[in-house]
This record gives sequence, structure tokens and C-alpha cells, in this order.
Amino acid sequence: MRFSAALSLSLLALASLTAAAQTPAQPAATPTAKKSVVPQSKAPKAQLASPQVTAPQAAKAALTPPMGWNSWNFFAEKVTDKDIRGAADQMVATGMKDAGYIYVNIDDTWEGKRDANGVLQTNSKFPDMKALADYVHSKGLKIGIYSGPGPQTCGGYEGSLGHEEQDAKMYADWGIDYLKYDLCSFIPAVMMKQAPNDKAAQMKLMIAAYDKMNKALKATGRPIVFSLCQYGWDAVWEWAPSVGGNLWRTTGDVSPDWDRIYAIVSQQAGLEKYAGPGHWNDPDMLEVGNGHLTLAENRTHFSLWAMLAAPLLAGNDLPNMKPEIKAILTNKEVIAIDQDKLGRQASRVYSDGEVDVWARPLAGGAKAIAVVNAGDNRYSTHPFHLSLAKLGLHGPQTAKDLWTGKTITLTDNMPLELPSHDVLLVRIPAPK
Ligand code: GLA
Repeated sequence: MRFSAALSLSLLALASLTAAAQTPAQPAATPTAKKSVVPQSKAPKAQLASPQVTAPQAAKAALTPPMGWNSWNFFAEKVTDKDIRGAADQMVATGMKDAGYIYVNIDDTWEGKRDANGVLQTNSKFPDMKALADYVHSKGLKIGIYSGPGPQTCGGYEGSLGHEEQDAKMYADWGIDYLKYDLCSFIPAVMMKQAPNDKAAQMKLMIAAYDKMNKALKATGRPIVFSLCQYGWDAVWEWAPSVGGNLWRTTGDVSPDWDRIYAIVSQQAGLEKYAGPGHWNDPDMLEVGNGHLTLAENRTHFSLWAMLAAPLLAGNDLPNMKPEIKAILTNKEVIAIDQDKLGRQASRVYSDGEVDVWARPLAGGAKAIAVVNAGDNRYSTHPFHLSLAKLGLHGPQTAKDLWTGKTITLTDNMPLELPSHDVLLVRIPAPK
């Protein structure tokens, strides 16, 4: 049985962690095994008056949003050494590496038990982590790993509580380049226990736990991207850079369905001021190519992650990737929006019913615009009309449609017929 964090803080007080596996769970029978569920509650609203965050400690790593692949969204707890090697091979073979995907990240369920000296062993799915890291590096890629500040991870495996320095040093010795650090059991085991009736004190404990691992990572001397996973609690975007966070999850878990993806997107509006080179909002990993997302939904999901300057961590079955999915994930002009050097996350400029218009400035004075039809039933009888004026643009604009590759002219109030859940994503090289 696995620890479920799909509970509010107060519910967690009641939840018994005895449910969390005392011994690591066995890999599930299918690669589409159920995921751990973390709170999908709305993250607290950003405070409008907050200044742009600067992140001196994080400034050297992740100058653009990290790109790579993570095992969780497809393999979940079934992932093995072989799957990670296969993913690395495929990232090279499919051209994903050339498109910029560099990190191969092992998510939860690699952990075994600690030995008498407290040294964490891998479990039988990962016989030799150093050899695996060497293999991934030999492909010109980087490797990431997963842990958490609690006694157990979300999957009920061994966490880092009380062993932060030891674990960080081991990661560095293995050659790890990226750590995702997931709150889960720290909530009941430490926050609820040490400060049962004091939410603010609980949050301070949480922040201190992230800083502890930050310091442990820094002490290794190895640059390791630090990814905070605590579902957006306590306006994480306001404090994550101060504990070395290069990226931080802003919400609960993504899943491969449109409603969840769109709900996450809606929660990103207003967070743009917290993102920048070295420190990024993370709306969770990509589900492109997973579940039953339509082609339009896959395209819109990827477009919006690019507009949001989100980490692009693919989570699909790379050896069986369909050509149309590969075409989405490797669209270099869309990736260039995500990776733009300015690092300015898009804002939602306006919405009209179920159509949202997002825009972000790009290096060199260019601009990217995404128009998303989140609705199900808008037809050519009443097309959406795009207001250039609301986007601060004057007169016709020459733009490139990044999905068709065609040059188009945008005019004020032009009708746009967008199919359900589809997107118009354009780059305007010289906006007027
Ligand atoms: C949580 C995280 C997921 C994944 C799982 C692993 O649910 O939010 O991204 O890492 O834990 O157990």
C-alpha cells in the first residue's frame, strides 16, 4: 500500500503513516500503475505586490528551464535500470537530445534500505546506480534522482530524513545532476507531529527541511539542480529561490487528461513574476503522448508549457513514441519559446469565455502569443475574435504559426476558428 498525500493537512493528521510501506513496495504489474496522488488543491494566490525574486544561490544552474525525461508519468513504480538506459538510448535515437532534452530523471521507487552505517542502498531494480549514471553520462546526457525530506517517499520507500548530508554526498559520488525532493511523509511525520496546531510553524519546518537539503547539496561541491516538490504550498514561489530551488512545483500532480492539465494551467496565471533564469515555476511534468489526450490536447499542453517557461520533462514511453508525438516534443521553434534567454514566463492577458490569450516577451523584442480554446462547443457560427489592442499591438502583425510553420498576418479583431482544446501558437518577430 502506498502513502497517499491526497489529503489536506488536517486530514493528514488523522492519516496513519503505518499505511506507508515499511518495506519498499514491489513494482506494480503494469507500467500504467496508479500514481501517488498529491493535493490538487489550489495553490495560495501570489501576492501582487511581491518583488521579482532574485536567486543568487541558484543562478548558475538551470539558466533556462530544465529539459529532459522523467520515469514517473509512464513507468511509475515499475521503473528499472533497464528502462532508464532505454530512455537514454531513445533520447539520442529519436533526436530528443538534439532538440535539447538532457536530463534523464529517475523518479520514486529506486530506493532500498539503509545499511548499519545509514548508507542508503538501491533496491533490486537498480543494481548499480554509479554504473547507470556513467551510462547516461556516456550518452552526453545528465541524470536525475528523487528523494524527500520525510522518513518515506510518496511511494513508501526510504526518504532522507536525518540522512541529508549522507544522501547528498552519495548522489554527488554517483554523479547525479538533478534532485527532485518530494514532501509527502514529512507532513505527518514531522510537521503534524512537531507543530500539531500551528500551520505557520509547520510551514517553517517544511522550508527548513528544503534548506537543509539545499545546504547538503551545496556542500558536495557538485552542481545539482534542486527541484522542490511540495505541491505549491505556502506560496513556494516566494521562498523557493532562497533555499536554492531551481524549480518548484506549483500544484498537485498532473494527469494525462485535459481537465487536469487545463486546471493546472489556470493556476499559473499571476505567477509569471516569480520565474526567471535559474528559478522556475514547475506546473509538473509533461503528459504529452500519455493517456488518451487528443493530438490537439497534446499540442496545446506542450505549447502552454513552453509559454509558461516550464521545465520540459517528457514522461512518455520513448521506445514506442508515435511520430506525431515526437513531432510535438521536438518542435524546435516551440522549444525555443520555452528556452528563450529572457526567461519571461507568459501572462494570461485576457480570457473571453473559454478562450484564453497568453503572451510572453522574447529576447530581441519578439513576442509569443498562444490562443487556447478550452471549450467544447464553439463553432464557426461564432468564432473567437482576437484583440490585438488588448495585447498592446497596433495594426497588422506578421507572425509565424509554430505548428503549421506558415507565415500569417494577424489583424485586429480577426476571427479565429479554433477546434476544441486546440491552440494557435505564434511568434511575432517584430511586434508593432
Ligand atoms: C508525488 C509527486 C509525483 C511523483 C510521485 C512519486 O505524487 O508529486 O510527481 O514523484 O510522488 O511517488
